[in-house]
Amino acid sequence: MVSISNTHLTETDPLSEGGVGRTSLLIAAWRADEAERIDPLVIDSIANIFVPPATRRWVEEMTRTSESTRQLISYRTRFFDDALVAEFKRGVKQVVVLGAGLDTRSLRLGGAGVTFYEVDCEAVLSYKQRQLADHGYAAEASVYVPGDYIRDDVWALLKARGFDAGAETFFIWEGNTMYIPAEAIIAFLGRLKAEVPRFRIAFDYLSEELIARDTGFSSAGKLVAGFESAGAPWVTGFTDIARLAERAGLALVEDKRIVDVMPPSRFRVALDRELFRHYSVCTLSNHE
Ligand SMILES: C[S@@+](CC[C@H](N)C(=O)[O-])C[C@H]1O[C@@H](n2cnc3c(N)ncnc32)[C@H](O)[C@@H]1O
Repeated sequence: MVSISNTHLTETDPLSEGGVGRTSLLIAAWRADEAERIDPLVIDSIANIFVPPATRRWVEEMTRTSESTRQLISYRTRFFDDALVAEFKRGVKQVVVLGAGLDTRSLRLGGAGVTFYEVDCEAVLSYKQRQLADHGYAAEASVYVPGDYIRDDVWALLKARGFDAGAETFFIWEGNTMYIPAEAIIAFLGRLKAEVPRFRIAFDYLSEELIARDTGFSSAGKLVAGFESAGAPWVTGFTDIARLAERAGLALVEDKRIVDVMPPSRFRVALDRELFRHYSVCTLSNHE
């Protein structure tokens, strides 16, 4: 478990202004926590450099509210890691991480000839770069692209930093869709299709019932409320991802509910199973 340090609790949370940006600290804390397990699903040995003492009290609270969510994060991290490695095996050399937060894949999994672009707001990316530099990690592992990929012309921002729209690209869109209105998601996917001829995009999503607090069990409602009160409300879920793909003119490569891929030993209590029915990971493609 992530523990609270009693020292430095008055230090400022580095992303306290950040709303959704601040959730990246929570995810990093949960990844650091996973790396300490006897049977880790994924080892992110860099994550803990991002979690300052000032953030730990909030992390503790969120962990108490939903131990299941912490588990979900480990599963989704593993899904995106595996998906990325599979893309490398297919020969993909260009990766864009949308809403990258404190993702460390360029350092953990990147290799020769591969370029990672990470898009997030200025506050998150500059905090990340500072922490990496202070701990001796290579600053050039990723090309950082500060901006809002919904509101800004992210394609111009990416191209200005060397992104090659003609190259086959893998987009990682992890822990983002729940914060973005559905129409904006569809518009974004449409623009992506127009801009990049060959790509796959992997993302996670919640169910519509979870967003509507209509799952029939109270801990799910508490979880939704926890993110809302943290200034990062979940607003969008999907019931039929094939329909979303169709609306965006994309092919559905895979779609799986976490409950169907997670070994039973990982469920702490039976209720977790209910929650995990409402959380899925999928990949869409433009060219097959
Ligand atoms: C829950 S965190 C997930 C971070 C990371 N992808 C991960 O899974 O560890 C969401 C991140 O997406 C970023 N984000 C959300 N919407 C965004 C947008 N429209 N443009 C840029 N960044 C965005 C937030 O700033 C935040 O860092």
